[in-house]
Amino acid sequence: MKRLNLLIAVLLLASACAPIAKSSSAKEFKVVVIGKSVHPYWSNVEKGVRAAARDLGLRNDQAVFFVPPKEDVASQIQTMETYIAQGATGIAIAPSDPNALEPVMKKAAEQGLLVTTLDTPPIKGSVSLVYIGTDNFSAGEAAGQTMAKLLPSGGKVGVARGSDTALNALQRTEGFKEGIKGTRITMLEPVNDKEDFTQALALANSVISAHPDLAGAFGVYATNGPAWAGAIREAKKVGQIKLVCFDATTDIINGIKEGVIDATVAQREFDMGYKSVQIIYKMFKDGTDKALAEMGVKDGVIDTGVDVITASTLKDYEATLDEKDIPHDWNTKGWELKK
Ligand code: BGC
Repeated sequence: MKRLNLLIAVLLLASACAPIAKSSSAKEFKVVVIGKSVHPYWSNVEKGVRAAARDLGLRNDQAVFFVPPKEDVASQIQTMETYIAQGATGIAIAPSDPNALEPVMKKAAEQGLLVTTLDTPPIKGSVSLVYIGTDNFSAGEAAGQTMAKLLPSGGKVGVARGSDTALNALQRTEGFKEGIKGTRITMLEPVNDKEDFTQALALANSVISAHPDLAGAFGVYATNGPAWAGAIREAKKVGQIKLVCFDATTDIINGIKEGVIDATVAQREFDMGYKSVQIIYKMFKDGTDKALAEMGVKDGVIDTGVDVITASTLKDYEATLDEKDIPHDWNTKGWELKK
């Protein structure tokens, strides 16, 4: 009996001293990637998430992808709460409003979850361990410089975006202003559709009818390029209103082929999804510092880069995607650049 009591005491002591850190068994790992809207852009992010999960040997339920139907801060917060309660290993989020999301991101970090951001940056001093995405200011600046080349004599440019709070939208707009500095282009006040396509189209139509002399249009989000293109076609102003937008979803590439979109700044959203899963998995396995160092994080950022595409560079762009094995639903077969 005495020996049994001693054994129990030893076992109790051993369990009290056991480290409380989560076991690194791959089965318990779960990463959640939270995007911003139901949209082909986010489907590409999801493809990156799925590809990383497959390469890491994770089951589907170990790499969850979630997006609300359109920009919805409350739904992002609610989803974070759900996965904090479930005890996920890590969450990667594109905060639609970085100030509103920070408290719940902090709560997650305090409860031991690995928190990162993708596509749109967090606030300064955030608990986010890394931001994986575009350098939005310089990408916006590239869009502005492209517009400046398209409009050598200047003119009015309308701006449409899907958020007035997400930092990627704000930084792209600021970058665009920088890109047109010193030119005769004047930028109109941006309109906000909250990533609702019907709303985006209605706003594009109303900007075009309110400004018959509109010379250019800038689409800040992937929703905006096709919305501007639809409104420009409807107003029979293809070629007359120069259109520069963001992203390379199928409808945007079709707009370039058709000639209604003059240029687009393509992001690398597949990589954003892939790398978000990869880095959280590495952090879980090898520790945060090692993961950040091995994935080349600089100043808390992995800059995924952009490609500025026009009709003349479209085929080269397609070739680079194919080389890197990045899926795309469009192709340039049978299409030739009009000279
Ligand atoms: C942005 C995303 C946005 C998407 C769809 C992209 O340009 O980076 O934040 O959700 O467009 O509108």
